[in-house]
Amino acid sequence: MSAPEAALILERCNDLAGLSSQPDRLERVHLSPEHRAANDLVARWMTEAGLSTWQDAAGNQCGRLEGSTPGLPALLLGSHIDTVPDAGRYDGMLGVLLAIAVVDRLRGSGIVLPFALEVVAFSDEEGTRFGTALLGSRALAGTWNEEWWQLTDKDGITLAEAFQDFGLDPARLPGAFRRSESVIGYLEAHIEQGMQLEDADRRLAVVTSIAGARRFALTVTGTAGHAGGTPFDRRRDALVGASELVVAIERLSKETGTIGTVGRLQAFPGGVNVIPGRVELSLDLRAEFDADRDDCLERIRTAAEEICTRRRLSFAATETYRADAVTCDPGLQAAIGAGIRSTGDADPLAFWSRAGHDGVAVSALTRFAMLFLRCRGGVSHHPDEHVTAADVAAALDAYEAAVRQLVSEY
Ligand code: GLV
Ligand code: MN
Ligand code: MN
Repeated sequence: MSAPEAALILERCNDLAGLSSQPDRLERVHLSPEHRAANDLVARWMTEAGLSTWQDAAGNQCGRLEGSTPGLPALLLGSHIDTVPDAGRYDGMLGVLLAIAVVDRLRGSGIVLPFALEVVAFSDEEGTRFGTALLGSRALAGTWNEEWWQLTDKDGITLAEAFQDFGLDPARLPGAFRRSESVIGYLEAHIEQGMQLEDADRRLAVVTSIAGARRFALTVTGTAGHAGGTPFDRRRDALVGASELVVAIERLSKETGTIGTVGRLQAFPGGVNVIPGRVELSLDLRAEFDADRDDCLERIRTAAEEICTRRRLSFAATETYRADAVTCDPGLQAAIGAGIRSTGDADPLAFWSRAGHDGVAVSALTRFAMLFLRCRGGVSHHPDEHVTAADVAAALDAYEAAVRQLVSEY
């Protein structure tokens, strides 16, 4: 009987979607005024669900329900509330709202909890603003890299400055680090962002592992020149070389079982009548197995060298992000499987996630597992992201049952 709760969750996703830096589309990046507003709204919902709330030293919004005695280690539940540009309204946010609803239900049921429950709305999973992802969950896991303070956004603001503008003190960041003894695991619900559930006509799935991803800033350099006066045999056109490279990336990705994407490409100086002298492009590589991804990368490097030598161009690649594949904990997977079975699905689907998630970072601190929920057409990172209220209701039932399973096993 969870239809009203599912409707409320969807309404709250709509409310969060209204907190955007853009008037006509959703974009909410790390440490922005919209992030502040989203934290405040989520904190209000956490309070209404009976959690005590705080914003940690990394800008993650947290809420806690004590167990049978105060101060017990906590089972963490959550997801992220930052977005990509022109985002959908469920990637991340739905997982936070489901987690709050699960805690609200359990508190209302009077269950005796042998551990505390904490909901975390991670501040940065997508990496939209500073180009490196998982800053919120990496802070929580205590795997912070001091070099990140110098990362800059598109306006040249450093991460350290953005922290200060948000009212956070970089020197106090270690306050966000959790100790492994203070947590017993992390569960996250998330839309699938793929088509396997829809193709199988199923609502929910157990995630077995998360793909390892590497991201690069690539530069192809040639010589700018006059579009009319420079004959083809004299050109060193960086954009034509980069275009060949983009096509090679697709081919090599397919050959190596890797998912390779060039999502951003900019030609300089950018005049309609100027041969591009430099092209900057992004590269995102991910695969179920890190070895396949790294093999693909080596082949891309070889292809880039060949293309650039033939075209008298030069090539450089700088790694901006790296996370190796992580496996979901078998015990927590079993609890999620039991949760899904409790909704009437006797034989839950289980598969690896092609998308990255906060669990990648949290796995350095504690065991984790994920529940996937069907989204229409597998569409994500797009305003057309869509879930049905019935699927959200099923996810809520499964999520609650998974936590109850862990309570009974503990
Ligand atoms: C996160 O959404 C990612 O997989 O890029
Ligand atoms: Mn995303
Ligand atoms: Mn996400």
